[in-house]
Amino acid sequence: FAFSAANQAWAEGQIAKYPEGRQASAIIPLLWRAQEQEGWLTRPAIEHVADMLGMAYIRALEVASFYFMFQMQPVGSVAHFQICGTTSCMICGAEDLVAVCREKVAPNPHELSPDGKFSWEEVECLGACTNAPMAQIGKDYYEDLTAERFAEIIDEMAAGKTPLPGPQNGRYAAEPKSGLT
Ligand code: FES
Repeated sequence: FAFSAANQAWAEGQIAKYPEGRQASAIIPLLWRAQEQEGWLTRPAIEHVADMLGMAYIRALEVASFYFMFQMQPVGSVAHFQICGTTSCMICGAEDLVAVCREKVAPNPHELSPDGKFSWEEVECLGACTNAPMAQIGKDYYEDLTAERFAEIIDEMAAGKTPLPGPQNGRYAAEPKSGLT
């Protein structure tokens, strides 16, 4: 693994923000940039980040494996669905969303769909409990989901569209910033 020239320069800039001896504080942005470059965090990528920060690989691995935002296995080329399975979402239908994933994506979490476009996993509370059930797709939250709407979202993404994120039942407090594509 190696950062692209642009990412390497960016990473060095991040590290330079911290005082001498505190370079390890840059680990999360560097891991995030490595994931954005590769799609997921390979062992060589984590090793590279650890080396840049003067950390032991195991310490970098501990950080990478702690957060749901970091993917330790390959993810779908189009989207990775993170279904919240914590209390509010569970009560409001998270299991139905998981069933959609099992049927339309892959039988088990972290498996790729046959075409490699999609993957999924169940995660803990993402802080959008009032709009349960919800899923994070990439950097966006899709909320107030039903199994039917979630299945449509997957179909729309498979067709190359980007469904409008946010509540899926129309209860916007303000005008959404972007439209359907
Ligand atoms: Fe699902 Fe909090 S319980 S977002």
